[in-house]
Amino acid sequence: MAKIILTGDRPTGKLHVGHYVGSLKRRVELQNSGEYDQIFIMIADAQALTDNADTPEKVRQNIIEVALDYLSAGLDPAKSTLFIQSQIPELCELSFYYMNLVTVSRLQRNPTVKAEIQMRNFETSIPVGFFTYPISQAADITAFQATTVPVGEDQMPMIEQAREIVHKFNSVYGETLTMPDILLPDNKACLRLPGTDGKAKMSKSLGNCIYLSDTAEDVRKKIMSMFTDPNHLRVEDPGQVEGNPVFIYLDAFCKDEHFQKFLPEYPDLDALKAHYTRGGLGDVKVKKFLNNVLQDELAPIRERRKEFEKDIPAVYQMLEEGSRKAKAVAAQTLAQVKRAMKINYFEDQALIEEQAKRFQS
Ligand code: TRP
Repeated sequence: MAKIILTGDRPTGKLHVGHYVGSLKRRVELQNSGEYDQIFIMIADAQALTDNADTPEKVRQNIIEVALDYLSAGLDPAKSTLFIQSQIPELCELSFYYMNLVTVSRLQRNPTVKAEIQMRNFETSIPVGFFTYPISQAADITAFQATTVPVGEDQMPMIEQAREIVHKFNSVYGETLTMPDILLPDNKACLRLPGTDGKAKMSKSLGNCIYLSDTAEDVRKKIMSMFTDPNHLRVEDPGQVEGNPVFIYLDAFCKDEHFQKFLPEYPDLDALKAHYTRGGLGDVKVKKFLNNVLQDELAPIRERRKEFEKDIPAVYQMLEEGSRKAKAVAAQTLAQVKRAMKINYFEDQALIEEQAKRFQS
């Protein structure tokens, strides 16, 4: 069976380092591994509109930001198809049919939907489109017959829901859709990177993000003012590494060679952590190290971004081309779905003849 990846992001803001370690970096590795037959990366503008219906301009502006983040992180249109969700109307058609296979109470129990409803203070004014976006996400995944969906752990309930829809569809209408598997980041620290303020999640509205497109100076400032262990007041004090965002970022980004390059007095991260825990290691020193590590990772991304920014029309053209390719694939799946659901009347010669006979006898 072909190995096919589908994944994507909502274009509600520029991508940050949480997106990068949580999924983007992995996607680039998967792309370059040569192990996948097809890779589809989607800018989920239609999904973004489910809770941004009154701010379409925000979504529109961020499409190019996300596309630039993709390209500069190393996604290569020659290897991966990058496309825009709203340009594939087949996804809406699939969603409409899948809606019949999901109950309201099942959607209400979806933990991601629950958490997001709470976060957005929707209470009783939940837009129907938002409420049903797990169904549209199942359409995104199945339209490409994806076998593998690399996403962060917050998306686990979405993939679970998609799997249920696939199971239900195939058992009602016959084997048609491919069962997708989630692919989580393998480094635990990457599952969810906290904000620079120590809050559980990086979020634009909290102002605690480090963006892929930040300048070197912005990144340095953000790191130097990062939240650490609040009880680690003096250098001599023993410090805590668990839950300390500076160390979580190091867990996510730092490799042993970074020590040889920037902090040769320690062999590895375990030694640095042990010293911090023991006491006698100041936050500033650790932050300076983290800054070096992050700059090392982000500098090539920033350089590539500058190049792509020089020809924005070419980026749109690439997205248009990708959307055209994606649409052709989704159309094939939709045709299979309609055949399975027996709503392919005009291509079903047997049906036409059978009906003709019925009316003649
Ligand atoms: N829900 C994802 C996010 O918020 C975006 C997304 C839409 C997606 N459709 C998808 C991810 C299908 C994986 C597969 O980032």
